[in-house]
Amino acid sequence: MELSRPRGTRDFLFEEMKQRKVVASTLKRIFENYAYQEIKTPIFENLSLFTQKSGDEIVEQLYNFKDKGDRELALRPELTAPVARLYMAQMQKSPKPIKMYYYGSCFRYERPQAGRFRQFWQFGCEMIGGKSPEADAEIIAMASHSLKELELEGFEIHLGHLGILRGILDEEDITGKTQDHIMGLIDKGEPKLLQEFLDESEIEPDTQKILYKIIEMKGTSKLLDEVKELLKDRNKALEALFELEELVETLGMFQMEDYVLNLGIARGLDYYSGMVFEIYVPSLGAQKQICGGGTYNLVETFGGEKVESTGFAFGFDRLMAALIAQKKDLNLKVAADVFIAPISPKTRKAAFGIAQKLRYQGISVEVDLGRRKLKKLLSYAHNLGVRKVVLVGERDLEEGKLTLKDMETGNQTLVSEKELLEHIRS
Ligand code: HAM
Repeated sequence: MELSRPRGTRDFLFEEMKQRKVVASTLKRIFENYAYQEIKTPIFENLSLFTQKSGDEIVEQLYNFKDKGDRELALRPELTAPVARLYMAQMQKSPKPIKMYYYGSCFRYERPQAGRFRQFWQFGCEMIGGKSPEADAEIIAMASHSLKELELEGFEIHLGHLGILRGILDEEDITGKTQDHIMGLIDKGEPKLLQEFLDESEIEPDTQKILYKIIEMKGTSKLLDEVKELLKDRNKALEALFELEELVETLGMFQMEDYVLNLGIARGLDYYSGMVFEIYVPSLGAQKQICGGGTYNLVETFGGEKVESTGFAFGFDRLMAALIAQKKDLNLKVAADVFIAPISPKTRKAAFGIAQKLRYQGISVEVDLGRRKLKKLLSYAHNLGVRKVVLVGERDLEEGKLTLKDMETGNQTLVSEKELLEHIRS
């Protein structure tokens, strides 16, 4: 029988898990410094949570199934909709903004390739309510701060505003699913299909020209004046542009200058309404997007009040790939700090007693479980990478002593059981 993994999934072994743990705990620390609190939602949800905004087409991209009670369920493809559901069920009366973060796996039925998996992890956040330029700027600054803390090099933050493209389309009476379809074609970077669809939808050539121009616009804040000129008399789009202008000014307060204005960002998910941003690491190639986010109003879509929210998610696996490719020192912790080696069968019981005492003192300890002889004990300890080995000998024990071996220098010190903890910590 062939025991293989499902397509698009991976196993993670010790070293990779340690690296992921270091990165996740760094992100947790930074997010908590910005006063976000962790939440957890179910891995599966009612299918309707994801189809309500995006329609049945999204089902193709989901892992959905019926359970034994005939309920239509889906493995979550992302966490923004689940968090909006949670907010509506339990947090509507909480003071705003509510700042939440999450770390968990997501599932998408995609064609697997490098950096694109069927099970992948997101580390993300949502700020529900309290929309303001400061709130948006703080969230972008936190994303940037996280990557700087991880010492990731060569990342680019691209910032845009969906209200510009959507505003132009709204004023042409192109709304609902048609508008979402156009945004999808822009997101996928399919200029031919886009043109065909715009022609089919009988969009004025003038408007088409402006759309194509805007999609291509990338650069510094100097670009804003050029866009203003282009959008003359298109009030809805101009309103969005002014919002973006204010955000750009506010970002300065957060010492954020190193980003690119990119008005072609359309985002793949159709709940976004305002500011959007994506972070790329170009060296990752086709799957260079390591983060995506923006402003949305899912709560209203779900039948609640208008509570504008902003959030983003790091694609954790792509972030790891970028860090590993740059050979970042992820400060890996070894499996244990100390190895306890009973050097005679008679000292085995005592060895476990010592191990338990140390573990209760917060030291990570491995004890010989393989009943090895001295030589093998030391080579095993060496392979584990521990810094210190406690040799438990019969004669030493009778005198209440233990031998502590420093694996880096090879020095051995005879210490009393009482002094052991102090020596290990030193
Ligand atoms: P998203 O852009 O669809 O946004 O996903 C966020 C990140 O997850 C992407 O930038 C990418 O790095 C990673 N990702 C997506 N699909 C895959 C895959 N198949 N394999 C590996 N990595 C993948 C969202 O999901 C939004 N919920 C983000 C958000 C939060 N917006 C507001 N709040």
